[in-house]
Amino acid sequence: MSTPIVFDTDPGHDDAFALLVAARAPELKLLAVTSVAGNQTLDKTTLNARRVMTMAGLRDVPVAAGMASPLLRALHTVPHIHGVSGLDGYDFGPPEVELAPEHAVDLMIRVVGESPEPVTLVPVGPLTNVAMALLRAPEIKDQVARIVLMGGAAELGNVTPAAEFNIYVDPEAAAIVFGAGIPITMVGLDATHKARVRPAERERIRNLGNPVGQMVAELMIWYGQFHRRKYGWDDPPVHDALAVAAVIRPDLIETRHVNVVVETAGTYTAGRTVCDLRGVTDRAPNADVAMEVNREAFVELFTEGLARY
Ligand code: RIB
Ligand code: CA
Repeated sequence: MSTPIVFDTDPGHDDAFALLVAARAPELKLLAVTSVAGNQTLDKTTLNARRVMTMAGLRDVPVAAGMASPLLRALHTVPHIHGVSGLDGYDFGPPEVELAPEHAVDLMIRVVGESPEPVTLVPVGPLTNVAMALLRAPEIKDQVARIVLMGGAAELGNVTPAAEFNIYVDPEAAAIVFGAGIPITMVGLDATHKARVRPAERERIRNLGNPVGQMVAELMIWYGQFHRRKYGWDDPPVHDALAVAAVIRPDLIETRHVNVVVETAGTYTAGRTVCDLRGVTDRAPNADVAMEVNREAFVELFTEGLARY
C-alpha cells in the first residue's frame, strides 16, 4: 500500500532531487506539489517546481503556488547557494506542467481532506504553507498521519550557528507546526550533513542512461560549488532527498523521540530547534529527530529512484 504524500517545496537543487525520487517511488502516492518562498522568491520556486515536474513526466499531479513570504518576517533567499533562478546549472526548457489555479494552502487542505487515508506531509522548505493550512483548517490535523520535514538541527545550524535555513526563514511557522500535536519526523542537519553524495556516486547517476540522471549530475555539480567553498566538501548534502527517503524507508535514519520547541524571540538564536536530547525539561516529546543515517543505503535508494526514469 503506497503512502499518500503532499510535497511542499522551495526548489532549490536538493528539493528537485527529492521531488524526482518521490515522483516515481512505488512506495509513495504524490497527491500534490506545493511551492513556497525560501531558497528563492515564490515565482522562481514555483517555476522550478513546474520544471522538475515536467522532467518527471507527471501531468496529473497538481502544482500550486503558496505563500510568498514568511508569516511575520521578511523573506531571506539564498542565491549564493541555489543561484539567481533557484535552480542554476541546467538549461531547462519551458515547463509543460501548468500551475494549478488553487492557492497551495487550499490545495493542501483539500487533498488532505479528500484522501481516503491519512496523508503524510513532506515539507522541505520553510513551513509557511503548512502553518497556514493548520491555521486555516485545524480540522485537517486528524487527516495528517505524520509530517516528515527537512529542517532544524539538534546541533549546529547552517544559516546562523543556532538555526537551519528552513526554520530560520520562518520560525513562527515552524513553532506552529511543532506545536500542532501531529507526529513529526525532523530530518535536520544532524542527519543530512551525513547524507552526502560523493563525486563517484554522482557520476554513477550521470551514467544511468536517462536524461534525468544527466540533469541531476549537472545540477549537483553546480550546487556543490557552495559546499566546496563553505565546508571544503566535494560531496554536497542532498538534504531534502533524505526526508523523502525517510518516508520510503524510515529505517534509513536513527531518530530520538524528544521534545522540540522553536525559538522565535532570540536575537542570535531565532529559528533554533531546541531539541531536549537529555530530557532536562518537563516538556513532552513531540518529534522524532534524525541523528544518524545509513549513508550507503540512502545513496542506493536515491540512485535507484533516479534510475526509474
Ligand atoms: O538547510 C537546508 C534546507 O534549506 C534545504 O531544504 C534546502 O533546500 C534549503 O531549503
Ligand atoms: Ca528545500
